[in-house]
Amino acid sequence: MEMNNCGMEPAQKDRTPFSDIDALSAQMSEIVLDALTAMGRHPEIQRVRRVAFDSLGPRPGQRLLDAGSGSGDVARMLAGMVGGSGEVLALDYSASLTATAIDRHDGSNVRYLTGDVCALDLPDDCVDGVWCERVLQHVDDADRAIAELARVTRPGGRICLVDTDWGSLAFDGMPAGLGEVVMAHVRGHFTPKQHDMGRTLRRRLVAAGLTRLTATPVTCFFATPESAAVVLPMVNPEVPVEVWATPPGLRDEWLACVEAAGASGTFLAVLTIWVVTGTVPGR
Ligand SMILES: C[S@@+](CC[C@H](N)C(=O)[O-])C[C@H]1O[C@@H](n2cnc3c(N)ncnc32)[C@H](O)[C@@H]1O
Repeated sequence: MEMNNCGMEPAQKDRTPFSDIDALSAQMSEIVLDALTAMGRHPEIQRVRRVAFDSLGPRPGQRLLDAGSGSGDVARMLAGMVGGSGEVLALDYSASLTATAIDRHDGSNVRYLTGDVCALDLPDDCVDGVWCERVLQHVDDADRAIAELARVTRPGGRICLVDTDWGSLAFDGMPAGLGEVVMAHVRGHFTPKQHDMGRTLRRRLVAAGLTRLTATPVTCFFATPESAAVVLPMVNPEVPVEVWATPPGLRDEWLACVEAAGASGTFLAVLTIWVVTGTVPGR
């Protein structure tokens, strides 16, 4: 296992908690880690990942990069797919998350690294494929990150991007318009300022010159507030009050409506997450 350090871009601090987890308080970074772990267990996120695994098609013997690997759960799943003759590089910006990933290591063929997906300290053409899940919405320059992912992937290798389209988030069962008001306030706090990353991925891969593109929108459906709260912080009453950027009273009014909709069985939320894959052309 190997670790290296990269410089921190101050602009990332202005974005979501996931942009620079190491800058968070101990309490917030624990909340973020628990949230990531719970999300990975959610059936809707697992459904998104199944689409992405099929789309990337990892094969035994391959060397893959999981860029923005968080606590390393997917890197270890990919390691199971590439087998003992393959290898997975699990790279994340956060040193503390990387340390957690190392703690959770299961003996599979994963190498853990810290680094910035926008400036990878890796040679050209060094991996057969890339997985990058729910990361680009948190970086300052997604196109630069994609160029880096393409640079380190050998010609013919596949890059699989998974990202959220927060602009697709919709609710039903609560008073008309209230969800939109809340979303306007939490944008840039709970969600990135760039709301539409998922739907932009395909055109970004086109612009980067990748071929054999596939793009699959997976609409996640949440039928209860409890299920939704795992993926959607804006319906999660456990999220500390001070993190909410809403005017006094709005959070409580909204969460009361969410709870009432849950109690009456009328709560509904949908969110589209895109899985977009392309092949790196010959150079
Ligand atoms: C929402 S989490 C997703 C983690 C993991 N891919 C998953 O699906 O569980 C976003 C991750 O991207 C990482 N990240 C954010 N900016 C990054 C950057 N510039 N380079 C590498 N990783 C970054 C964060 O530290 C965090 O682990």
